[in-house]
Formats: sequence, structure tokens, C-alpha cells
Amino acid sequence: MAELVLRNVSKSYGKHKVLKDLCYTFSPGIYGLLGPNGAGKSTMIHLITDNLRPDEGEILYNGESIRNLGKAYREKLGFMPQQQRVYPNFTLERFLWYMAALKGLKKEEAKKQIPELLELVNLSDVKTRRLSGFSGGMKQRALLAQALLGNPEVIILDEPTAGLDPKERIRFRNLISRVAFNRIILVATHVVSDIEFIAKEILLMSEGTVPESGTPWELCEKIEGKVFQIVTDEAHVQEIISAYKVVNISKDENHIYIRVLADVMPEYAECKVRKPGLEDFYEYIFE
Ligand SMILES: Nc1ncnc2c1ncn2[C@@H]1O[C@H](COP(=O)(O)OP(=O)(O)O)[C@@H](O)[C@H]1O
Ligand SMILES: [Mg+2]
Repeated sequence: MAELVLRNVSKSYGKHKVLKDLCYTFSPGIYGLLGPNGAGKSTMIHLITDNLRPDEGEILYNGESIRNLGKAYREKLGFMPQQQRVYPNFTLERFLWYMAALKGLKKEEAKKQIPELLELVNLSDVKTRRLSGFSGGMKQRALLAQALLGNPEVIILDEPTAGLDPKERIRFRNLISRVAFNRIILVATHVVSDIEFIAKEILLMSEGTVPESGTPWELCEKIEGKVFQIVTDEAHVQEIISAYKVVNISKDENHIYIRVLADVMPEYAECKVRKPGLEDFYEYIFE
């Protein structure tokens, strides 16, 4: 089984240490790299994709340093960077042919794979259209197709749902879980819902470290009994907000529902313990 290992990896930009002694082992499955902007997600990804070198430590693929593997490693890699140019004047089909050539795919392979990938990301009908006319969701799906060229064993997606509307996000999420079989997939995002239900493991990233990691279930279990819903009215909202860490506020015609984190049950008449979700845990760690 494929294995990607970060071994004591550190990286600085000038004096600013952006990644601090990271250790992690990835095996096939979806990993969510979750953290706020500036946490170091993209930097970690650039190290894994071999676009940047660590100052200390090393990255191993199946036991061998990716530096030594070089091209042999990069050929096994599919990458969707955070900000990617899409060559607006290219048609989708031309774009994929171009990317296939850059990746060194043989013509026969590209000829076979491109229609399959277009089908997979549901863009076969628009393959002759220019990318400049694509919606955000279409563009991201085109970029995912590009990342899948060459049937990579490791797929790295940096903020793949940026700029998508809620419906497109869900669609993209389902697509990721469909291509996950037998591959290591790393999805960096600051949006909990992108990975909550598809990731086998979550790495929470904060200021260049991974303070928490595990299955979504393991993480949520750590705050079991600390998530509450208070049902209240307008008059008490402010006092609750100042007293507790609030995860969410919603309302209907008659009531206001406030989801809070607390070590002991808040003393309100209508207060119930709730099952923790990853959003709660994220709030617990970061806010
Ligand atoms: N090329 C660079 N030069 C200097 N600092 C950088 C560079 N790229 C990123 N940084 C800094 O490194 C930190 C981590 O950034 P980044 O890896 O992009 O985080 P994330 O992807 O989680 O938002 C930030 O403080 C950012 O400002
Ligand atoms: Mg980033």
C-alpha cells in the first residue's frame, strides 16, 4: 500500500518559521488539512508536491526520499494549486491536451483518458467551449480533471472549493470521494463542511503545527458533553454571547437557538446537550 511520510519537516521564509517539525503518515484515503488562512497549508502542500524544499526533515514516498525519486515521484502526483491560471482562450479539450503534454503523457494515453475524465467531471458537453466562459464550479471541475491526468497515486487539492456556491461545493465534494479509491488524497481547506463527511482523517493546522489529528469521529469525541443548545429569546442573546463560545445562532418565528461550547451545562431552563460535529471542534480549537 502506498505511503507518504513527513518526517520532522520544517520550513521558514526568512526568519518566519512557517512549518514546525511536522510528522505525519498518509496512506490511501482522503485527508482533510483544515486550518485558517496563514496556518501553513499551502506551504506544506508545496513541500509535498516538491515545488519547495524543506529546511529540515524529509518527505518519503514508499520509503524513499522524494528528492531522490524526483521525476518518478512527480509523475505519480496530481496537483490542483490554490491559484491556478486556466488559459482563458483555450477550449477545455485543448487545455487538457496541453496539460497532458506537460505531464509527459503518451498521446494514446491522453486520447483514452481525456474523454473518461471529461465524463467523470461531467463536462463532456462543453469540451469545445473556451475556459473564459466557464462558471466557478466548471472551472474547478476542469482543474480537477487536469489533476487526475496520468492516473496519479497521490492527489493534492489546495482549497478546491474556493469561490463555489453551496450547491457546487456539495457536487465537488462528492466528486472527490468518487475518485478516492486506492489513492492518497489531501484536501486543504478552511471550510469544515468540505471535508467533514468525506475525510478518513483530519489534520488541524495552526501556525505551522498540527495540534490535533484523527478521524472526524475521534476529534468530535474529544468535546463530547461540551456542546449545548440554548433555546432563548432576543432579550438574552447578548448575555449568552458574552458568556460562552458560540458556534452558531439560528432562529424561527418564536425562538432563538444558540449552539455553545462550555465545560459544564449552562444554567438556562431550555438547554440541552448536543452531539458534537467537526464544526464545533474547529471552533473549540481556534476561536
Ligand atoms: N513566498 C512566501 N514568502 C514569505 N512568506 C510566505 C510565503 N508564502 C507564504 N508565506 C507566509 O507563510 C505563512 C503560511 O502561509 P500559507 O502556507 O500560504 O498558509 P495557508 O495556505 O494555510 O493559508 C503565512 O504567514 C504567509 O504569509
Ligand atoms: Mg493556502
